[in-house]
Parts: sequence; structure tokens; C-alpha cells
Amino acid sequence: MIIGEGPGQNEDEQGIPFVGKAGQLLDKILTSVQLNPDRDVYICNVVKCRPPGNRVPTDEEMNSCKSYLLEQIRLVNPSIILLTGATAVRAITGDKRGITKIRGTWTEWEGRWVMPIFHPAYLLRNQSREPGSPKWLMWQDIQKVKQKLLDISSSV
Ligand code: URA
Repeated sequence: MIIGEGPGQNEDEQGIPFVGKAGQLLDKILTSVQLNPDRDVYICNVVKCRPPGNRVPTDEEMNSCKSYLLEQIRLVNPSIILLTGATAVRAITGDKRGITKIRGTWTEWEGRWVMPIFHPAYLLRNQSREPGSPKWLMWQDIQKVKQKLLDISSSV
């Protein structure tokens, strides 16, 4: 399962998460480790409507959508949750450290493996692929995710 911040304009119009440019990049990242974005991953957002002017959702807005999100998690029952960006981290684990510090690290939350990763929109603004760049770090992280999925599926 992948949790983003909230719908952008395209997503709000279509009612489907991550269909714009950031979503297309997310699909590419998933495909790079042979994950099918339509079949292998459930993608959703912390808030279900686009905040005015595309601003970061307030705590009140996040709380209004929280029971919906928790029910999505319960129904999908994922073994792994990726939190894209600081808002998703804030909503789920409440970790206040910056995303640069915690990305790529596994924690356990409610019996599930959780990893914060960069938001794909951030990668769109940072095009470098040099070692240590956000895109390069995302490539390390998604490979860790793939490995964890393989570990989980071989242990059942
Ligand atoms: N950014 C998000 O966090 N979610 C979307 O669905 C699209 C862009």
C-alpha cells in the first residue's frame, strides 16, 4: 500500500489517486522493480479532497479523513505501507523528523512494515540521478521494498 498526501487537480477531477505527473513517476518507480501499479499496489491519500490552492492539509483536515484511511488500511490489509512524504508520515506514525532523515528506514506500525519515502513530486523537482541525489536514494529505497516483499512471500 502506498499513501500520499492528497489529490492534486488531476486526481480531484478523475477521483483516482496519483494519475498526474507525480503518479506517472511513481508507476515508473514501481515498474522498475517489477511491481505492477494496478495489480500489486493499492494507492491512496491521507486526505480525500484537494485542499484549496493545493496547500498542505491541516491537522483538522487530516483528522476528518483519518477513519476513512484507517478503514482502507484495515480492508486492504497490506503487509507493507510506503508513506510518500512528510504529510503521510505525520498522519500514520506521527514521526516529526524530516523525511530526509527517516526515508528508507523500516518501522513497525500496527503489525505492518512501514517505510517513509520521498514524495514523487519532490523527485520531479530534483532531476539529478547522481549518487546521493533524491532520485538515487529512491532507487535504493524501492529496491529495499522489493527485497522485503520477496522475504515476506518466501517466509509464508
Ligand atoms: N500527490 C499526492 O500526494 N497524491 C496524489 O494523489 C497526487 C499527488
